[in-house]
Amino acid sequence: MSTSPAGHLADLTGKVAIVTGAASGIGRATVELFVERGVHVVAEDRDRAVEKLAGPSVAPLVADVTEEDSARHAVSLARDRFGRLDVLVNNAGVIINKTVADMTLDDWNAVLAVNATGAFLHSREAVRAMLPQGSGAIVNVGSYACFQAFPTIAAYAASKGALAQLTRTLALEVIGHGIRVNAVGSGDTVTHILDHIHDDGPGFLAEHGSGTPIGRAAQPREIAQVIAFLASEQAAYLVGSIVMADGGMSVAAGS
Ligand SMILES: NC(=O)c1ccc[n+]([C@@H]2O[C@H](COP(=O)([O-])OP(=O)(O)OC[C@H]3O[C@@H](n4cnc5c(N)ncnc54)[C@H](O)[C@@H]3O)[C@@H](O)[C@H]2O)c1
Repeated sequence: MSTSPAGHLADLTGKVAIVTGAASGIGRATVELFVERGVHVVAEDRDRAVEKLAGPSVAPLVADVTEEDSARHAVSLARDRFGRLDVLVNNAGVIINKTVADMTLDDWNAVLAVNATGAFLHSREAVRAMLPQGSGAIVNVGSYACFQAFPTIAAYAASKGALAQLTRTLALEVIGHGIRVNAVGSGDTVTHILDHIHDDGPGFLAEHGSGTPIGRAAQPREIAQVIAFLASEQAAYLVGSIVMADGGMSVAAGS
């Protein structure tokens, strides 16, 4: 079996991917891992910091995933700059912690728009590009909240439940055309997603993760490794799966 100079399995070499939410956390780690494995990447984020990732293998795109044109621009950029599109990673995500009683309509809509509608829009445009070539992979970044809930995450849990069902439904629609759609169900990961709530968001997540069976939170690269697997032909028989990467949280009794 051939390997890249870095010793990795070479089955992603030469692929072209879009990664949303690429400026930070899991998305950024995914861009870095993809580049190491010879993937050309359109790195999309609403945060201008994504422009710092620019390079021979990375085309940054400053865009909001909730806008319909963003998905079209991302696919066009992949084709114009790198010639095709093989992989979409729907990773951009936000969370708001409020009880339903306290939640505004704007709160609810903001979370659903990024986590569910943004993934729908990008999946639609990606599939339209992949169908004629008869191949492709879409990886959605889900969560323990695809299945579980606790107070204050109603909008987030609803959005990740929607993402799980988008994953399953689209997987059935396109597997006959050689396109695989799967998701990773991430547990606590040391990123900046809670920075708007906590002074030290990564520190809070690291501490919170210590309560999982594995005894620690994930590093973004550990989730990126699962994303890379799902994007690769090594995952050829996975169709509509939500692969839990949560340190055992979802299988522990009472969790
Ligand atoms: N960190 C965790 O503990 C955890 C757990 C489960 C699931 N997840 C999921 O992982 C994914 C990545 O989150 P993260 O933890 O790396 O957080 P993060 O905040 O570090 O990164 C998220 C990125 O998404 C971008 N983004 C947000 N809204 C956007 C929009 N409308 N358009 C374009 N970009 C947008 C942000 O600018 C940011 O760069 C999310 O889908 C999140 O729900 C994270």
